[in-house]
Amino acid sequence: MTTPIIIDCDPGHDDAVALLLAVSSPAVELLAVTTCFGNCSVEDATRNAIQILTLAGATDIPVAAGAAGPLNGATALGNYVHGVSGLDGPPMPDPGFEPQSGDAVSLLSRTLRASAEPVTLVVTGPMTNVGRLLRDTPELTERIREVIFMGGSTERGNHTPTAEFNTYADPEALDIVLASGVPVRMVGLNLTHQALATQDVVDRMAAMTHEIGKVCAGWMGFFGSSYHRVWDFDAPPVHDPCTIAALIDPGSITWCPAFLAVELDGTWTRGTTIVDLHQRYPDQAPNAQIAMTLDAERYWSLVLDALESLGRQS
Ligand code: BDR
Ligand code: CA
Repeated sequence: MTTPIIIDCDPGHDDAVALLLAVSSPAVELLAVTTCFGNCSVEDATRNAIQILTLAGATDIPVAAGAAGPLNGATALGNYVHGVSGLDGPPMPDPGFEPQSGDAVSLLSRTLRASAEPVTLVVTGPMTNVGRLLRDTPELTERIREVIFMGGSTERGNHTPTAEFNTYADPEALDIVLASGVPVRMVGLNLTHQALATQDVVDRMAAMTHEIGKVCAGWMGFFGSSYHRVWDFDAPPVHDPCTIAALIDPGSITWCPAFLAVELDGTWTRGTTIVDLHQRYPDQAPNAQIAMTLDAERYWSLVLDALESLGRQS
């Protein structure tokens, strides 16, 4: 069975690997890619997305640019992790095609309406585009099978001590999605910090005899040095492809149903996810599935096999 998906992203080194994994897998059909501010400006994210799809030979996938900033408040950017371009590191091919003339919300809405079956929205950046879509066209809720997003955490944050970057960048948009009734799955830092690109993983990418393997190894080198400088990690967590792994290889991740909310007003805690794993709010029923454990060996086999086969074809 093939799952139709749209990826809404802010590439970004780990978003880039998520896109390559999705393009490579016959288990998902990538209908469209929409972009958002986040790791860099939305202009840079859009150019990066098109360059990544060009590298993958997937020049027929429509791409549209989305939000330049959040629904409320100041715009946070992650260039301090992903570099000036948002995808610093190895040289990339020139963009092989143009973005759509309409914006991300119109491409999302057109694609949802045109699909014969409900579509899975995979969100690997701030939730702004999907928040806008559900705020302005709530009737499209039934065209969405689920929203699976990388963001939040059951534990620590990264952009602030308690908040993960994507949920910090637009908590109001996530709040709209949580209130919409669409099924939601959260792939937070508690899960993605198990997806470390160790030296062995990077060596296996570098040993591939095609451009995709070499480029991915270069990306991991840049991303790894940021993670070392900012958070003192020995290896970078490759967050975003965990969402795609959940769709392609469901057995690689375990889940727990829980009540999920996001802090909008806290003095220090804006953007922090509240995940009630131990039912401390007895009146709040579970409204999301929370990713808990990752089989890291299985995850890296999936990602590396996908990169190898994509690199050989393109
Ligand atoms: C998230 O923020 C970005 O740095 C990554 O692309 C990922 O989506 C991790 O907090
Ligand atoms: Ca991202």
